[in-house]
Amino acid sequence: MLKAGIVGCGFMGRMHANVFKALGNAELVAFADLKPERAKAYADEFGGNSYGSIAEMVEAEGLDAVHICTPTDTHKDLTLEAFDAGVHVLCEKPMAMSAEEADAMIAGAASSGKRLMIGHCIRFWPEYKVLKDLVDTQKYGKLLSVNLTRYGSFPTWQEDDWNEFEERAGGGVLDMHIHDTDYILHLLGEPDTIDSWGVIDKTGPAHAFTTMTFGDTIAQVEGGWNLPSCAPFKMAFRAVFENGAAIMDAGPLTLYEDGKEAVEPEFEKVEVAGGGNLSDLGGYLVEIKHFVDRLISGEEFDTVTPESSKRSLEVTLEEIRQIKAKANA
Ligand SMILES: NC(=O)c1ccc[n+]([C@@H]2O[C@H](COP(=O)([O-])OP(=O)(O)OC[C@H]3O[C@@H](n4cnc5c(N)ncnc54)[C@H](O)[C@@H]3O)[C@@H](O)[C@H]2O)c1
Repeated sequence: MLKAGIVGCGFMGRMHANVFKALGNAELVAFADLKPERAKAYADEFGGNSYGSIAEMVEAEGLDAVHICTPTDTHKDLTLEAFDAGVHVLCEKPMAMSAEEADAMIAGAASSGKRLMIGHCIRFWPEYKVLKDLVDTQKYGKLLSVNLTRYGSFPTWQEDDWNEFEERAGGGVLDMHIHDTDYILHLLGEPDTIDSWGVIDKTGPAHAFTTMTFGDTIAQVEGGWNLPSCAPFKMAFRAVFENGAAIMDAGPLTLYEDGKEAVEPEFEKVEVAGGGNLSDLGGYLVEIKHFVDRLISGEEFDTVTPESSKRSLEVTLEEIRQIKAKANA
């Protein structure tokens, strides 16, 4: 049994804690938060003990890994603190606020001999894995174009409203749109061209509209958090191949192949001990299971590497640079 702790008992801390209910090979035993009452509330709810720091909880519980689910501007320091304490790290996305911070995290992993994975969950999301397989196998021929969309209202659950500050969250482009920037690099590799336009508000670059080219394949990647509070969250994609299409938009993923009936792939549902159904957790479950399984087996993290996470951060920062430059032109 791998022993783990969570740092940051907020929205994503809860998501990670829920996933542990479905893992048979890892135990969540400790919680830490800047605010002791938040760590205690999660320890009471999920079972385990609460602590004021990573070092304290690693020493007291003999942990193997910590999951860092804190505001983005804390990721670098907390990751390094965890490596100093001698544990592996699963850190939420975005990896950090800058490429320099990401470099420090990569160097920290190397010098401590511990392992680092960034929570780029969309790479693990079942529907997005189907799309990746279609591109890799060329089952419907070459990918001609792909459209990735993610939008919603500004998240208001966050503790101390940290996401309102560009220097803490990076605006909707770094916080939210990075999911699709990361995924398009995972899907197609390094882009030949990047052209971004966007909307800036008091939180920073709030919504991005980016066109990328990969040879003669075109990607349109759009996302942000500046919709009215009553608007629903949406993630969608539309991929058009030479002989087919994969569409997930306001409904289940549907695959269309020339001359055949449309197909809706079915995805495995996960029952949680004690009742409940974790299928809603989608890619989070697959992602965390990958992290735990690979720590136990000693195999590499081959779906998300620290270097590819840093590259996704760099490309998103380039989108932000272009958005700001065009807004100021
Ligand atoms: N993968 C996803 O789909 C996804 C979705 C939402 C958020 N996120 C990311 O997860 C991270 C956390 O976001 P959230 O929405 O859970 O935030 P949140 O505000 O809900 O929770 C953050 C928690 O961290 C605690 N905290 C703050 N600074 C700390 C520190 N220095 N040490 C220990 N605890 C500290 C806060 O008290 C709070 O309990 C962010 O990086 C965000 O971008 C990822």
